[in-house]
Amino acid sequence: MKEFPKNFLWGGATAANQFEGGWKEGGKGISVSDVAMFKELKTEKDLNDVHANCDITDEMIDAALQSDDETIYPKRHGIDFYHHYKEDIALLAGMGFKVYRMSIAWSRIFPRGDENEPNEAGLQFYDNVFDECLKYGMQPLVTMSHYEPPLAFAREYNGWYDRRSIDFFCNYVDVITKRYKEKVKLWLTFNEIDSIIRHPFMTGGLIESRFSPDKFEEVCFQAMHHQFVASALAVKITHENIPDAKVGCMLTKLTYYPYTCKPEDILEAQQKMRSIYCYSDTQVHGEYPAYLLAMYKNKGFDIKMTKEDLEIMKAYPVDFISFSYYSSSCVAKQADGLEVTAGNTITAIKKPYLPSSQWGWQIDPIGLRVSLVDLYDRYRKPLFVVENGLGARDTIEEDGTINDDYRIDYLQKHIIEMYKAIEEDGVEMMGYTTWAPIDLISNSTNQMSKRYGFIYVDVDDHGQGTYKRSKKKSYDWYKQVIATNGASILNAKQG
Ligand code: BG6
Repeated sequence: MKEFPKNFLWGGATAANQFEGGWKEGGKGISVSDVAMFKELKTEKDLNDVHANCDITDEMIDAALQSDDETIYPKRHGIDFYHHYKEDIALLAGMGFKVYRMSIAWSRIFPRGDENEPNEAGLQFYDNVFDECLKYGMQPLVTMSHYEPPLAFAREYNGWYDRRSIDFFCNYVDVITKRYKEKVKLWLTFNEIDSIIRHPFMTGGLIESRFSPDKFEEVCFQAMHHQFVASALAVKITHENIPDAKVGCMLTKLTYYPYTCKPEDILEAQQKMRSIYCYSDTQVHGEYPAYLLAMYKNKGFDIKMTKEDLEIMKAYPVDFISFSYYSSSCVAKQADGLEVTAGNTITAIKKPYLPSSQWGWQIDPIGLRVSLVDLYDRYRKPLFVVENGLGARDTIEEDGTINDDYRIDYLQKHIIEMYKAIEEDGVEMMGYTTWAPIDLISNSTNQMSKRYGFIYVDVDDHGQGTYKRSKKKSYDWYKQVIATNGASILNAKQG
């Protein structure tokens, strides 16, 4: 009888900025996500305009601050977990989750980011959340920063571009790891640290319009350097405060294949993959890879880094590697005339052989196995898939049911490939958390209608609805997967 390794951590993943709501309650400060605006995406061109919902200017922020409207700034209400957390955690626990990945909103603990003393009401909120999880035997896996830099930190300091960001963040990490030392043993530093290149405002608090366009890439890599140092220090601080904790990095696993077997396309794909791996290479090996330093040199970047920074990065690498995986795409040396499609905050060449989601993301379960093998061969550290899922429009039938067979099909195929990576390829895995077990606001499009959950939440793109929760068909399916440690799908006859 096939099943996953004993103690495999099954669960689901969310992020405060996309589902917590309560944006001004309990002393919380405004975060960069609270000014992210909803725009209707109607055409394929809109979907492929991946930056449309990420770019922001000072004028747009000023306008957002003038308004208390939650409907055009959907991350302000999310799904109102802030007031529904007991009900939501009970629903997640009802599926038998072993682990629940979530994030702490930095701006709930330090409303501006630069204070010395934390906001007690914010700390108490997460105490309540963790207690509720532990009540059901569900262990929290906590991301320290998931697109939630405080807005004041972005506006007044230029976010992570300012070196003082390292101290602010370390103070925050020290506070949360001391406070939750008995409750949280699994931590991730920055969600998708690489995403600062794709959405600099959400990840790094960088307001692009403030910088000269020809310097902006350098600005992003400077901010990233500060995050690398802060991440290494976060590993140090967490281990000092919680000796039995494990701390991971988190990478967007964008998987690119060569469009053809022409050597030029293969080289193009290799280069592209290096541009993805450079972040985890740095965090796992504790030093910049030579090819990234060569890129800085060739582009004339002057990234300010001290000897001490490099020593810190070397001394405190991460304990494990986590990543998100949704889809794959292609690259080619000559891309003219090839069809492109959207992916996770990217556009890339469409593959001839793969189906796409309603948002254009190409569905490739085997790509997950390829990714696991590549990452394990490269790092030989335990891997944790902390995001994988299908964003889709769900339909409520007349009898109230939601038959999301497409979601079951997507997840099932990915889980089977994950099993093969463990059993046939020798990959060491800690666990798997789907994105997202309960519907929430999309990061890239700010839509509610792009749903990932096993649990439906009655809210629309304009924040209208009862916020009532109901189980989709996939809820019982995933519950069964967890209860049988994967055996329910691994041993089922494939139709
Ligand atoms: C991941 C992010 O890259 O993708 C999540 O960590 C995000 O925050 C998820 O929600 C899915 O992307 P989207 O744009 O469909 O919400």
